[in-house]
Amino acid sequence: MERRSFLHISAAGSILGASASHAQEPQDEEAKAPGIPVAMAPRPDGIEIIWRTHQLARGMVEFGPTPELGSTKRDDGWGLRPAGSESIRVRLDGLQPGTTYHYRTVTESMDKKDASRSVSAIRTFRTLDPAASATRFAVWNDTHKHADTIKKLAELTPPSDFLLWNGDICNDWYREGEVADTILTPAGGIDHSANHPLLLVRGNHDVRGTLAHQVEDHAPMPDGKPWFAIRSGPVTAICLDTGEDKPDDHPYLFGRAACEPMRQAQAEWLEQTITRPEFANAPYRIVFCHIPLRWTDETTDHGYDWYSKRSRDLWHDSLVKWGAQLVISGHTHRDAHIRSNDRFPYQQLVGGGPKHAQARLITAQADKSKLAIRMTDLDGKQVRALDLPALV
Ligand SMILES: [Fe+2]
Ligand SMILES: [Fe+2]
Repeated sequence: MERRSFLHISAAGSILGASASHAQEPQDEEAKAPGIPVAMAPRPDGIEIIWRTHQLARGMVEFGPTPELGSTKRDDGWGLRPAGSESIRVRLDGLQPGTTYHYRTVTESMDKKDASRSVSAIRTFRTLDPAASATRFAVWNDTHKHADTIKKLAELTPPSDFLLWNGDICNDWYREGEVADTILTPAGGIDHSANHPLLLVRGNHDVRGTLAHQVEDHAPMPDGKPWFAIRSGPVTAICLDTGEDKPDDHPYLFGRAACEPMRQAQAEWLEQTITRPEFANAPYRIVFCHIPLRWTDETTDHGYDWYSKRSRDLWHDSLVKWGAQLVISGHTHRDAHIRSNDRFPYQQLVGGGPKHAQARLITAQADKSKLAIRMTDLDGKQVRALDLPALV
């Protein structure tokens, strides 16, 4: 927890932890300190700011085009102040595309005995710019809560227009607080959205466990659903949720999974989305989904899916019609590049895993001439490279 980024002030106006009356409670106050703000779900006209809390608190976001800020968002649109006991989220709308904003979060305890107030450091985020001539982004797959891997990935990830965390961020959800910790303060509290807003796509482990429903509470999505499309410069990215790697009625899932209707809903959404001009006419067209849509061996039954045939059967025709060039996935914990062919005009890139030797960082840069995608290991060594031509 990086307390230095917050001024934590008690009702009496003292800095908590520094006053004599709180000298015996540094650990308690440390545990209660709000997490580093996280900028998620960027759009051309907005973004969502979310941060970890450890007690019931209300919050607001002060923001503006300069460090002087100037605007405050202090309502949730439902007649209430944004509040929560595990996280607080504030959605900002009406922003300008491709613009850097400065912001800070304010957290006010709702505990009558502790009217503390915390103010974060001033930070920045940048909205997406669909009209930009170039873009760059980064992808993490299958971090599975491995702190060393996450820290190393964060260290290697360059500033980008967005960071796509492409699923299996956990090992199933069972512990109270785990969902908020994993998404908002991973690896003990790194600042993972400092240089790029975060987009999350769920993996099969992220829809598993008794608390899997809490992901919705702590993972803002651009359209409020776990699938979405974005345009960043010349790239359209369609982000899909492949759900579980087993059928919904598999005994292992004890009746909890309902991924089949979700995949069907995405099929219908996809059919419409590929006709929207801002997505249809993009020079580069890529797909993110956790489970690959193609795999090197599609014949063997392993008891779970190496690739999501259930998803592909529903989405393939629309992806071909749209002109999808590449699907970027994780899930297998071994990297692969499967080229296009007559049946599958889209390539498949797979990479990432929780252990040092399996982990991969994918970075991409697109301009008028090409979309250059590079995959490196955690030692910084390039293991895969592919360039996509502009379609228009
Ligand atoms: Fe995984
Ligand atoms: Fe997976």
